[in-house]
Amino acid sequence: MARIFITGSAGGLGQLAAKMLTGLGHQVILHARNAERGREARRKVPEAQTVVTGDLSNIEEIKNLAREVNDLGTFDAVIHNAGVYQASAKDIFSVNTLASYILTCLIRKPKRLIYLSSGMHLQGRSKLDNFKTDISRITYSDSKLHVLMLCMAVARKWSEVYSNAVDPGWVPTKMGGRGAPDDLEKGYETQVWLAVSNDEKAKLSGRYFFHQKERHHNPEADDVQLQEKFLNLCKEITGVSFPQ
Ligand SMILES: NC(=O)c1ccc[n+]([C@@H]2O[C@H](COP(=O)([O-])OP(=O)(O)OC[C@H]3O[C@@H](n4cnc5c(N)ncnc54)[C@H](OP(=O)(O)O)[C@@H]3O)[C@@H](O)[C@H]2O)c1
Repeated sequence: MARIFITGSAGGLGQLAAKMLTGLGHQVILHARNAERGREARRKVPEAQTVVTGDLSNIEEIKNLAREVNDLGTFDAVIHNAGVYQASAKDIFSVNTLASYILTCLIRKPKRLIYLSSGMHLQGRSKLDNFKTDISRITYSDSKLHVLMLCMAVARKWSEVYSNAVDPGWVPTKMGGRGAPDDLEKGYETQVWLAVSNDEKAKLSGRYFFHQKERHHNPEADDVQLQEKFLNLCKEITGVSFPQ
């Protein structure tokens, strides 16, 4: 049995991954933006151990969330799933980019880290020069490239951790919309597989997966200089250092 923490598990792919993991007998800790969503999350996944709350559009709440998670002990896997698409650039940057960074830094190192990126990251640019000057230029695609840069930096720096990213496909959740063409089940199976499987193909690091297969990703994510600049900027903005 593994212990898994999943951000943004009050709905969508996070909740579906939580259901699948509890169904497999694993211990899951849910996360929701506030107490009301937390109660809803628990109602939907009653087998989960507990729920923690924190609004990821607020840096202080993200830091408090990390403390709350650490109070629950250590985790075998953390799935950085929470995300926003149709939101202000400020919220996209905070929820998708900064929350993934802060929680990665502050939550005690798990054995496995899974980051929800997107096929749209291929059109993204890192736009690091805008981080401190004009975040209104940062798009969803850019933020999903940031997530991949973070994933690759973690894989490079923490050799004892499996750090991988996932494109879940375009699937019918609140974010994906009803008409989304891809298979909803396949949209969360890969995260679950990366979190708990003993399959050798899941025990790799620094990879980008689509439906349990490695897929081509934006080479900007592998650029070590860009990764370092990204980590330094996130540190300056959040006051949180990346642990070595
Ligand atoms: N669906 C797709 O087609 C698709 C495609 C590519 C990548 N993805 C990625 O897959 C991940 C999951 O997406 P999804 O489709 O499951 O989307 P979703 O149904 O909109 O779920 C997103 C989750 O993130 C939470 N969240 C959003 N803003 C938050 C905040 N400020 N504080 C705390 N939690 C917050 C949401 O909470 P509430 O429910 O309370 O809002 C929800 O639990 C995302 O990272 C997304 O970028 C999705």
